[in-house]
Amino acid sequence: MAELRADRLLLRRWRDSDLEPWAAMNADPEVREHLGEVLSREQSDASVARFLADFDRRGYGWWAVEVRATGEFIGFAGLDEVEDDTPLTGVEIGWRLARPAWGQGYATEAASAVLAYGFDTLELPEILAVTTATNLRSQAVMRRIGMTRPGRRLRRPHRARRATATERGVPHYPVARP
Ligand SMILES: CC(C)(COP(=O)(O)OP(=O)(O)OC[C@H]1O[C@@H](n2cnc3c(N)ncnc32)[C@H](O)[C@@H]1OP(=O)(O)O)[C@@H](O)C(=O)NCCC(=O)NCCS
Repeated sequence: MAELRADRLLLRRWRDSDLEPWAAMNADPEVREHLGEVLSREQSDASVARFLADFDRRGYGWWAVEVRATGEFIGFAGLDEVEDDTPLTGVEIGWRLARPAWGQGYATEAASAVLAYGFDTLELPEILAVTTATNLRSQAVMRRIGMTRPGRRLRRPHRARRATATERGVPHYPVARP
């Protein structure tokens, strides 16, 4: 797993010591507001095992995000295959930070490093971002990293949509889930 360095952040492989703060984040209703139910410790630990396996299999996935100055683990950022229940196919970028780490530009900084890795190193033709219509903070991150929004929201989960030629290379801004 390649490490990515940004001004203030290190995106690195997960460590056992991340499991506890990661579980605390996933048990925080504010962090989970737009994601669904809070996760148990077991669910949270299992997610990291999946991240590591996915990363090793595909060469991309979810990095642990650490503040370089303090070594503190603050969340994750990375790339994943777009979930099957959206009307999209491709690779999406995402982020999740512990509540105390919000409001400092960390998600934007981590996302910029991930985006550069996706385009420059992985040579992905397109990177998508998907969120709910109500997740305004996540949408703001998308705008700050230069993503562009398709003209309309997709409301039908079963209608497949693939990038057109003119959209290739253009990072997409959120397509809201119904
Ligand atoms: C989505 C999420 C990561 C966004 O966090 P965030 O703190 O709003 O975003 P950033 O880290 O980019 O920080 C931006 C804020 O920091 C401020 N900021 C301070 N220093 C900054 C800097 N050096 N650079 C950029 N912004 C800075 C910005 O002005 C902005 O402030 P605002 O919230 O008052 O507008 C966070 O809300 C989260 O983890 N949510 C729960 C998980 C989730 O929903 N994930 C997305 C699923 S689609």
